[in-house]
Amino acid sequence: MFSPSPEGRQHSVGSSEVIEVNGPNPYQVTIGRGLTDDIADRAKHTGAQTVGIVHQPTMAAPARQVARSIENLGLGVHLFSVPDAEAAKTLEVADQLWDELAQHNFSRRDVIIGFGGGAVTDLAGFIAATWMRGIKVIQVPTTLLAMVDAAVGGKTGINTGHGKNLVGAFHEPDSVFVDLDRLATLPEEEIIAGSAEIIKTGFISDGVIIDRYEDDPLACLDHDGYLPELITRSIAVKANVVGMDLRESGLRETLNYGHTFAHAVELRENFAWRHGNAVAVGMMYIAHLAHNRKLIDDALLQQHRRILESVGLPVAYEPGHFDELLAAMNRDKKNREGRPRFVGITGIGDCMRIPDASDEELRAAYEAICA
Ligand code: GLY
Repeated sequence: MFSPSPEGRQHSVGSSEVIEVNGPNPYQVTIGRGLTDDIADRAKHTGAQTVGIVHQPTMAAPARQVARSIENLGLGVHLFSVPDAEAAKTLEVADQLWDELAQHNFSRRDVIIGFGGGAVTDLAGFIAATWMRGIKVIQVPTTLLAMVDAAVGGKTGINTGHGKNLVGAFHEPDSVFVDLDRLATLPEEEIIAGSAEIIKTGFISDGVIIDRYEDDPLACLDHDGYLPELITRSIAVKANVVGMDLRESGLRETLNYGHTFAHAVELRENFAWRHGNAVAVGMMYIAHLAHNRKLIDDALLQQHRRILESVGLPVAYEPGHFDELLAAMNRDKKNREGRPRFVGITGIGDCMRIPDASDEELRAAYEAICA
């Protein structure tokens, strides 16, 4: 099987949705509103005596609320503020956190909470994976991208001078809490960029997601509109994928739809582009490549463009950089035998590998997105 199922194993608890993630260490993703006390209850339930909350400076206030709620249950709490975005994912920051865990006597039974965007959940997961050979981590994503992608699935890591996420571990979270109240605090550009990963799960698996964007793109960006449903659907797809293939030996590759070209763009732009914007251009790129191969028809190609544009995502890239982008794609760490490896679709929810695109095909798709 090489196409993810859109059907989540999920149920409602009060006003929250709970999605089960199977795999070596099953866990739950809770999606709801006002989850501070639920996070604290879960921390207590792990049996920890001490909790470390890793957060970005901008998340200090809500992280303190979670800390107070945990303290009220009689546990010790330490707040660890780390730099924003990728600046958090360095060996220096990790080393500082290990130092703090040692100073506060964190033991094997204690727990880390990753409270923030994808960089924080990656870092917190990595610290939890490595401290005393692995302690529990509760992930609390606060950006749309982290909610629908980074915080679910157990990929953790830091960057080195040679590339992103080169040092890391698969370390499944104890649990994930997606507090929809956070959406109201996010800038619009972040909602737009995060939407690229939702649209991706639509194309690779869940046609209802695509229908929602066709129906009302603005409601898809609205936390009082379709957005909560889209988040739940997107997490359900990801949960199915990582539940079957934690270590990316097959099905998980489908989550890379649009990502091979996106990674090359991000590298060329020195990571100044939002990841979701690069993924949007990357999906247009692979759609053109598939169209040129007659794997998809004109209607599906145009649907990619229409949906991405309808929420303000980019669908084109600058001309004149093919050789640089090709070199970056040839170095992608997911390659096999030195060739870029793409995931394409032949229809919504039908995925296939494209491991054998020639340089001429890669150039033709590039020229199409520059046109
Ligand atoms: N972000 C893709 C994955 O989790 O595999």
